[in-house]
Parts: sequence; structure tokens; C-alpha cells
Amino acid sequence: MYYSVYKGDKEVVKPSRLGFVICSHKPSFSSFTPVKEFKKKNKGDIELKWGEDRLVDNTYNETAFYLVENKEPKRSMTFRIRVFDNAVAFRYEIPPQPSFSQLTLKEELTEFNLDPESTVWKIPAYQPDRYEYNYERILLENLKGSVHTPFTALTPNGVYLSIHEAALYNYGSMTLKLGKDEVLKADITPLSDHTVAHLRLPFHTPWRLIMLADSAIELTKNRTMFALNDPPKGDFKWVETLKFIGIWWAMYVGEWTWAPGERHGATTEHAKEYIDAAVRLGISGLLIEGWNDGWEGDWLENGIFNKFTVSAPDFDLEEVARYAKRKRVEIVGHHETVGFIDNYERQLEEAYNYYAANGIHYLKTGYSGSMMLIKGRREYHHSQLGVKHYQKTVELAAKKHICLDIHEPIKGTGIERTWPNLLSREGARGQEYEGGAISPSHACYLPYTRLLSGGMDYTSGIFDLANEAKHIATTLARQLAYFVTIYSGMQMAADRPYIYEDKFKEEFEFIKVVPTNFEKTIPLAGEIGEYYVVARKDRDSNDWFIGGITNENSRSVKLNLDFLDDGRYKAKLYTDTDKSHYKENQFAINKEVRNLNKNDNLDIYMAPGGGFAIWLKKT
Ligand code: NOJ
Repeated sequence: MYYSVYKGDKEVVKPSRLGFVICSHKPSFSSFTPVKEFKKKNKGDIELKWGEDRLVDNTYNETAFYLVENKEPKRSMTFRIRVFDNAVAFRYEIPPQPSFSQLTLKEELTEFNLDPESTVWKIPAYQPDRYEYNYERILLENLKGSVHTPFTALTPNGVYLSIHEAALYNYGSMTLKLGKDEVLKADITPLSDHTVAHLRLPFHTPWRLIMLADSAIELTKNRTMFALNDPPKGDFKWVETLKFIGIWWAMYVGEWTWAPGERHGATTEHAKEYIDAAVRLGISGLLIEGWNDGWEGDWLENGIFNKFTVSAPDFDLEEVARYAKRKRVEIVGHHETVGFIDNYERQLEEAYNYYAANGIHYLKTGYSGSMMLIKGRREYHHSQLGVKHYQKTVELAAKKHICLDIHEPIKGTGIERTWPNLLSREGARGQEYEGGAISPSHACYLPYTRLLSGGMDYTSGIFDLANEAKHIATTLARQLAYFVTIYSGMQMAADRPYIYEDKFKEEFEFIKVVPTNFEKTIPLAGEIGEYYVVARKDRDSNDWFIGGITNENSRSVKLNLDFLDDGRYKAKLYTDTDKSHYKENQFAINKEVRNLNKNDNLDIYMAPGGGFAIWLKKT
């Protein structure tokens, strides 16, 4: 079986092979005859409980091909393909078979036969730091090794596309690699037994998704991934997006430690101080890391002993939770598993019950470490067993009314439509890599690559830019821009509260008011790795927010505000000055109030490594 994709009259994906290799006495699924075709049309939108857009277009034409193998044992399979205006998606469905009900897959043979001269943007797969690498732009023909999705490309005939997957459950996640024949192929993350999935029938693969656009900025509008996921499984009325501060950055700059000791961060006293600070700052949540037993010594090595129901000696979870409740601050709990899944799963139910019993409805989980330890074996985070583990936590958390922010996660495939308690993920280099390992271009790649897979906890809002322990390669205005350019259902204001309160009250106001749930998003301008400007309308008010960032190069952007609603807006603008610079002059910032409406145009300067943020308040 082969497929190909055209956008208008442009060939985007040349004839590409489909199929599997299965482990059994009749290994390959080959030579099928389509015995029946079933066509369907769907029109209309789906509605997301939270996110960058409330409504997502779900208009498509679908064909399901029912296929039967020509030879014995005459196995059957369905190939289902959906064609949207801006995407193509397909999946394989394997019904129960008369002679067997279980299946082990050795390989998936799906190809994405792009022109080898396409320009592609990639991060490597199967590396110790999972998805946390800098994006690189190369020609497809020079691709070495496997790469993660979303995998974004520009074909020589001018089509932008991103290959990804939707609704990844109970299956290895898809990476891509170039075959000797120069054809890009699915490379499903293997298990330690060298297979890719052990399945019970009926089964269907995740959707293989190709997002398509005529420009880089148009690509960033693509939310088809969510439309390919199922509606919420249950009642998620209790789920609310959240902004939070944390006992966190103080550890990164060396003021405090995760481990108990003289400089222990997560003490009862510090937690109460931070709760009071959250109240003063008008922020709803507080993350507390380093609260539990297990952080002593080398926490990466010792993670196998982590206990998730036992507090450090100088931290009283129950008392802190009571205090937070009184002050109406949501605690964001923390489970750093270090990838020791057996240890974590043994405690899972009890650990979630413990938080739930203490009124804790938000949890950041972490999976540091290059591999997971599952059933005593070293497995990739992104293998079928890893995927199943993450899913277990999402479903258990839903039962206990807990929302998750997963660090070192499985990539987003839109399952938060079905499980809206999965509010955010990390899954790319975040600001913890500042201090040398990321450059200003990094955040300018994300909207066109990683963020096509959903929101990200980038840990924005670090204002202590010139700290010697962690020098941040941005201007101050850009730290505000991130709250608009990088969406997250759980959005962290990552710096220490005293930094905000001492010198930056006016800048912090933007962080306080910027929403974590939007009605709609309008990407305005950008190029991959160079710059990105986006406008978003609040879900709960008539206010609009605009954010823009640039790479190492300064640039001016002209913004036509015709997307605004009728009426007048009082706009607060935070912009770089003509002297701002991410290295030499990070704090130079203009703050200005202007009256604007939809007939106005703005001319905005972004300094090297800079950016801007605008709050348009409807008057
Ligand atoms: C890596 C996470 O990304 C970070 O946010 C966390 O603080 C550390 N692991 C420790 O859990």
C-alpha cells in the first residue's frame, strides 16, 4: 500500500509505503486487497476546555479502506485516512482476528517520502536528555540518526509541513529516520526486547499526522492534532488552568537546595513565606520542590529511594497545606521520580491520595534520567511502556481531581482534549538551560516545532537576568513576551518573589494579568528560528494580549491591529529600547500606555535577544 499527498497541485509527500512487520509465524502484513471503502464527511468545530483556541476546526473527508490479506491466514486491517484543509492524518486499525487476539509488532513501515532537498528542523532522538536539545536546520538528505516529531520541513516547492502523531496510547512513540533509499521512515521507539509494541486486539495506531501550510506562521495555527483526539472522558468541570510561583529558581541560582540542610528550600517556614508572597503578587499557586524524603546526596543516583508520602524533617506538608487553604493558594505538589517507575508505581495510589487528602489539586511530575526503570528493565521514556506509565498517572490523577504538569514527559499528541487535567508538559529545553546552553534563537524555533504538540512549561518570567550563577540571554521585555508566545495551561512565574516585589512591580503586573486560557490565537508574523509574533484573546474577558520575540538579530515589526474587536482599548506596552541587548543591556525597557483600536498600526522594535508584550484592555 502506498499513499501520497498533494497541496493544491504541489506534490508534498511522494508515494510512501505503509504497513507493519509483525512477530509471528507469518511475519509481514503484505499484499492486501481493499474489499470495501467507507466514506464519511465531517463538518464543524470541536471545543476545547482550555488552551490557545476554544474552537478547533474538525472538517474533513474520510475514507476507511477495509483490507484483507490475499493469502492465508487472510488477516484483515482497516486503513483510515482523513483529509483536512490543512492536514492529512491516517491510522491503521487491526480488528480481532479469527486465529489470534494478540500481536507483537516488530516494526511499523510507514514512510513520509519528502523531497531529500527539503529544509528540515530537528532535534535528535534516543539521547540522554530526551527532547531537551537545540533545534538544528539542515537539508533532509543530510539527516543522520533518528529525530523526534513534530518534525518540521519546507519542501523545495514551497510547502511548510510538520510530521507528528495524534492520540498516542499504548504504543511506542514515533521518531523518524532517513533510510538508505533517502526516504524518511517511521522509527517507533523500541522496547528493551527489541519489539515496538505488544498489543491486544482490537487495536489502532496513533494517527500519523502531516500538518500543511503555505508559510511558517500559518503552520503555527494548526490544531488538527486536538481534533483527532476523543472528547473528554468524564466530567472535568473541576479543572482550572493555573499560574504559579515556586520554591524552585532559588535552587538553580544556588541560594537554596532541594536536599535538607542549612540552605534547604522547602521548609515549612519558606513555604509559608512564599504562600504570603503569592497572595501579595496575586498569583494563585505555589510549587514546592524538594519537600519529600529522597533528595539527599546525589538525587539522580538516589532517586530509586524517593518517598512520595514522607516529608523532609523540616517540612510539614499538612501544616503547609492548611495554611495554603486558609490563604486560598493552590499548592503544586512535586514528584521527582528520576525515571524509577517501579518505585513510583508502587507508591502511586497512596501518593496521589496523600495530596488529594491535603487538598492539593496540582502536581508537577519529573522523570529526570536518561532511561526509565520499568519492571526491572531499562526502557526509553518514549517506548510503549513509558507511554503507558504516563497515561496511568494522567488517569489516576483525573480520578483524584489532580491536574498535571509533566516534566521530562512523553511528547504531546493532543490527549489533553480527552484528559483536560493534563495541563502542561515540559518536553524541550526550558529556561533551566539558560546560563549558556540556549541562545535567543531557541525560543524562536519552538512555536514552529515543539509547540505544535501543545503547551509547554517553559518556566518564564525570570527577571534576575544578570545573576552570575545563571545568566539569562534575554532582555527584560522578552521575559514578559514568553507568557504570550509560549502557551501553558500551567504557567509558572519562575523567579523568586522578592525579585518581583523589590524592583519590578510594574513589569510583574503583566504576569499577573496575562491569562492562561485563551478564546482564540492569531499568529501574526514570524520565520522559523528568527522571530514570532502572536496575539491571543482572553477566554474570560474582552482583553487581547500580544507577544513577540526575536533571535540574536534585532528587527522591527509592523502590526496591523485589525484583528481586534470593535471598540477602544487601553494598551500597556512593554518593549525593548533602542539600547536594549540580551548581553549588555538586558534591563532597558520602555513602558508606555496608549489608546488603540482596530484601525491602528504599531511599529515595534525588538532588540537582539529581545521581545515585547502588550496588554490591550477593552475600555
Ligand atoms: C528537571 C525539571 O525540568 C526541573 O523543573 C526540576 O526542578 C528538576 N528536574 C528536579 O526535579
